[in-house]
Amino acid sequence: MENFQIKTFAEYKKAYRKSIKNPEAFWEEIANNFTWHKKWDKTLEWDFEKPEVKWFQGGKLNITENCLDRHLETIGNKTAIIWEPNDPDEESRYISYRQLFVKVSRFANVLKNNGIKKGDKVCIYMPMIPELAIAMLACARIGAVHSIVFAGFSSSAIARRINDSECKMLITANEVYRGSKKVNLKEICDKALEDTPSVETVIVYRRTVEPTTMKEGRDKFWFDELQKAEKECPAEVMDAEDMLFILYTSGSTGKPKGMVHTTGGYMVGTTYTFTNVFQPQKNDVYWCTADIGWITGHSYIIYGPLAAGATTVMFEGIPSYPDYGRFWEICEKLKVTHFYTAPTAIRSLAKQPLKFVEHHDLSSLKVLGTVGEPINEEAWHWYNDNIGKGNCPVVDTWWQTETGAIMISPLAGITPTRPTFATLPLPGVQPVLMDESGKEIEELNAEGRLAIKFPWPSIARTIYGDHERYREVYFSTFSNKYFTGDGSYRDASGNYRITGRVDDIVIVSGHNLGTATVENAIDEHESVAESAVVGYPHDVKGNALYAYVILHHDAEPSEELIAEIRELVGSTIGPIAKPDKVQFVNGLPKTRSGKIMRRILRKIASNDTSNLGDITTLLNPEVVDEIIKEAKIEN
Ligand code: WTA
Repeated sequence: MENFQIKTFAEYKKAYRKSIKNPEAFWEEIANNFTWHKKWDKTLEWDFEKPEVKWFQGGKLNITENCLDRHLETIGNKTAIIWEPNDPDEESRYISYRQLFVKVSRFANVLKNNGIKKGDKVCIYMPMIPELAIAMLACARIGAVHSIVFAGFSSSAIARRINDSECKMLITANEVYRGSKKVNLKEICDKALEDTPSVETVIVYRRTVEPTTMKEGRDKFWFDELQKAEKECPAEVMDAEDMLFILYTSGSTGKPKGMVHTTGGYMVGTTYTFTNVFQPQKNDVYWCTADIGWITGHSYIIYGPLAAGATTVMFEGIPSYPDYGRFWEICEKLKVTHFYTAPTAIRSLAKQPLKFVEHHDLSSLKVLGTVGEPINEEAWHWYNDNIGKGNCPVVDTWWQTETGAIMISPLAGITPTRPTFATLPLPGVQPVLMDESGKEIEELNAEGRLAIKFPWPSIARTIYGDHERYREVYFSTFSNKYFTGDGSYRDASGNYRITGRVDDIVIVSGHNLGTATVENAIDEHESVAESAVVGYPHDVKGNALYAYVILHHDAEPSEELIAEIRELVGSTIGPIAKPDKVQFVNGLPKTRSGKIMRRILRKIASNDTSNLGDITTLLNPEVVDEIIKEAKIEN
């Protein structure tokens, strides 16, 4: 990958200019560094109005040959994955490229033996153990499409996702360790499986020795199946535009969006950005703390690092177990050189006494990264000073599930950083700021809505089963541009600072949540007539959720009811979606056309009621004062 690793700021500028002037030639040169069975016939075909984007059409490849096979000769014995268990007393696992290759091939045969073929959808609901990586790569090996569901989601959230893409198989584990707790994943799956007719087989990995209930004919143990499987599994030859995976992300309406990523462009995009943003060197140990259930884990724990031949760390546990020094203990133990995490984790660790950091030798660190939400000035400096000791460039990487790969970010040690700024676009990325009327803002020192005006290889191609929604959400706001849903400020040097979402998605502890999804869950409660959920600033989570709830006439407001509503959200979506605050109200501020004025509710939740704007046009302005009086703003 050294061939396309940018080494100086001047080289960055040159690459950027080339990528704008002749995007096809620019990406062709990069794509030439990968293993293809057949090179592509056409580099790019696109139309943002349809919308349609195709990269490397006619190209034939398998992404696992690029992540595994091609490394065997050169770095077969190098560690591909270091796994760090939840319990610090349990042994770490080191898996070389050769061992990973064998494990993936063998498990790919397990999938085949159980009737999985190219194009079939496989849902994976697993903890952060190497078998999760093996399962996903095994799918890619045979051309099956993985749909990984974060193992903190509830039964009904799993069922919704399985049914949306009609998964034929579910791969899970019996139990998962999370700090001092154990969670029975199989039980959660069993409940989901009551309502998922497409699932024929369930493969269960035994993470603990506890007994597991297995359904005859449907459920099979990972280990038993492996015993029966052949060792070798030739890779299925895929078209560059064949589907690689589906990953669900929150939308502004209730239904999650199954973002579809395809093979060739995604591989090229994740590998190119990994190599340039993080600037890994031969013997580095790279650790991204995300869960593989999110896009960050897909692109920057698995596909990008493995295609680039890096050593990637997978951590099963949580930052606070057995104490708040765990991240730093692991950095010391594994001699981590690259550390990539979320601002919410930084803020929660910055709240702890500094001794948790000082007890550990962090001198191996070279590069720090952040992702998932805007990083505030204080957290940036804490990270830079106490973890990086002022010696490690901090790469603030802006991107999305939809973009597949990092879009705006410093290149570590190569391009300048500026606290709270994601800084400059990567080569191949053409960001623009748009005003409310849909006009491009050309000036520097300006704020607007962030859009992208030219396709890049790893853009999601569609929403599974709903191309019209894909068009509407991303390509209908501004003509001929991809709309990100984020607001952004651009400084005098052209650096971008992401200011946050401008739609009804709230990022809580780095997780995207659609307020409509949470409202739907709350409205399911028999005592609830209507609800409105908004985000408000929270010093650790970034944002937290505030729910305004109207009860049916015969229901009495009570603390128990609040607890029930929170539980219901937890069981419908997952614990991360539980609102921090629930306020019972008699009415919600609505426009004359019946739309809830969320702007007002957001201001009340943020304790910023000095300037509510004009509320006289509301259908029911009187409810506003009432809501303010009862608002839960002590904190
Ligand atoms: C936000 C995560 C500010 C943004 C990779 C985006 C960020 C959403 C940053 C996508 C950043 C991500 N600075 N905001 N460096 N990175 N975001 O799909 O609002 O989980 O639209 O992808 O996270 O979240 P997603």
